[in-house]
Amino acid sequence: MDIIRSLDAMQQYSLGAKKRGLRIGFVPTMGCLHEGHLSLVKLARARSDVVVLSIFVNPIQFLPGEDFARYPRPVERDEALCRETGVDIVFYPDEATMYSVDHSVYVEETRLSGGLCGSSRPGHFRGVTTIVAKLFNLVLPDVAVFGQKDVQQSRIIQRMVRDLNYPIDIILGPIVREVDGLALSSRNRYLSASERQDSVCLYHSLRRAEKMVKDGERSVAQIRAAMVSAISLSKSARIDYIEFVNDRTLQPVTVVEEPVLLALAVKIGATRLIDNVVLKLT
Ligand code: PAJ
Repeated sequence: MDIIRSLDAMQQYSLGAKKRGLRIGFVPTMGCLHEGHLSLVKLARARSDVVVLSIFVNPIQFLPGEDFARYPRPVERDEALCRETGVDIVFYPDEATMYSVDHSVYVEETRLSGGLCGSSRPGHFRGVTTIVAKLFNLVLPDVAVFGQKDVQQSRIIQRMVRDLNYPIDIILGPIVREVDGLALSSRNRYLSASERQDSVCLYHSLRRAEKMVKDGERSVAQIRAAMVSAISLSKSARIDYIEFVNDRTLQPVTVVEEPVLLALAVKIGATRLIDNVVLKLT
């Protein structure tokens, strides 16, 4: 496994690999790796000859007051996990070279970015599309893998690739969960022991919604009400949003008809967690 820090060296490596006819698989991350990230590496591995994983805590996707400064950066552990999982290149761009002091060009998606997490984190997705576009230009992947966990992000990246004509296949990996259902996230380590117990309310409320739909309920208002009462059993939980949207347009729906994406964000104490499920009618 090699580590590349310079932007030029990354691009040169990828150009060289392409010349040799190798397919490049890419997994962009912010580090503090867990089994969710590693599952994406395995998907990339199956579809490419070399796997590049980037680790970059991207300042421009954090809002003022969010956790940019304290975002965990366990460098040695991350490198060991990459080595064990068969990553070929870890790409660590540094912030100063990634964003020049007079950086002034951004990539912005304008249809899918407004609702869901976009409402509570204005500007977040502009930061994400900008960094992912830059990483694509540096890593030059044939295949890039993203997680369904950040479902709105994945839809926005698919739209960016389509609308800006990136010759990249986007693959989505399923959500990897703890045994009790909590979706793995680098931010789970912020939770205290009692908050960790409360945090399963996101998964439980999604399961409750799935069961209601399976039993024939189609009213979004009814299902949302049941989810709100399930979540309110957890003392430290405060709902940011529970949204039922068309899975393609991300526009809100009032009746559950396929394909409906149910996504939620809940603050457990000071930690904001997200989760989602695509509702199946049968
Ligand atoms: P990060 O939160 O590190 O996530 C990197 C990738 O891992 C994303 O595609 C995310 O959806 C996926 N992922 C996270 N938790 C997962 C889980 N439990 N199961 C499966 N996949 C999971 O998302 C980002 O970083 C950044 O926004 C980034 C795209 C790197 C741009 O800065």
